[in-house]
Amino acid sequence: MSKYPVFDVILARRSIRKYQKRPVERRLIDQLLKAAMAAPSACNLQPWAFIVVDEPEVLIRVKEAAEQGKYNAPLAIVVCGINKHIPWAGDSWMQDCGAAVQNMLLAGTELGLGSVWIGGFDSQALRSALDIPDDVAPMCIIEFGYPADEREPLTWYTEEAVHWQKYDSQKPRIMRTMQMLQDDIDSGII
Ligand SMILES: Cc1cc2nc3c(=O)[nH]c(=O)nc-3n(C[C@H](O)[C@H](O)[C@H](O)COP(=O)(O)O)c2cc1C
Repeated sequence: MSKYPVFDVILARRSIRKYQKRPVERRLIDQLLKAAMAAPSACNLQPWAFIVVDEPEVLIRVKEAAEQGKYNAPLAIVVCGINKHIPWAGDSWMQDCGAAVQNMLLAGTELGLGSVWIGGFDSQALRSALDIPDDVAPMCIIEFGYPADEREPLTWYTEEAVHWQKYDSQKPRIMRTMQMLQDDIDSGII
């Protein structure tokens, strides 16, 4: 551990897509939720809801809704945004929920859990599986479990993404493509 353990945890968090059968203990789930709700939110509105799914029959329905997330994780937490009482806040719930999600991923890493953020899902299927009302917006599914796969700590740091003082339109930047994603998958990087 370095003098800055949070930095080690940040680098150690990788998307995990293979899990052990072992269930995630309730005590750890509570820790994940406490970490999530320690996140900052605009005007401290806390415009989030977390649907914890660990019953196999409900989990199956969540995985059915997940397009690129049919992994064998024993736990899913569906993160939803609520802005029905605060229309002036616009879409800031997305930023708030994003911060909450990252807190959960990092807490999970610290607790020895693997995780993967699932952004692609059939919204209607997820709503009907979990009784999510129209004025609550499911933002993502986070799958958790004890990892059955190891991933090297890393950062995707590239100097090409950094601008100092102003945006430099002349700065060369090779933006990532789906082919690059496929190459990373084929080579086992992700
Ligand atoms: C908004 C968002 C949506 C994502 N959706 C998916 C997904 O649907 N399926 C999946 O397997 N991974 C998904 N991921 C995980 C990314 O593929 C992963 O974070 C990226 O390849 C970098 O790898 P790393 O998380 O191991 O650093 C998503 C990540 C984010 C932030």
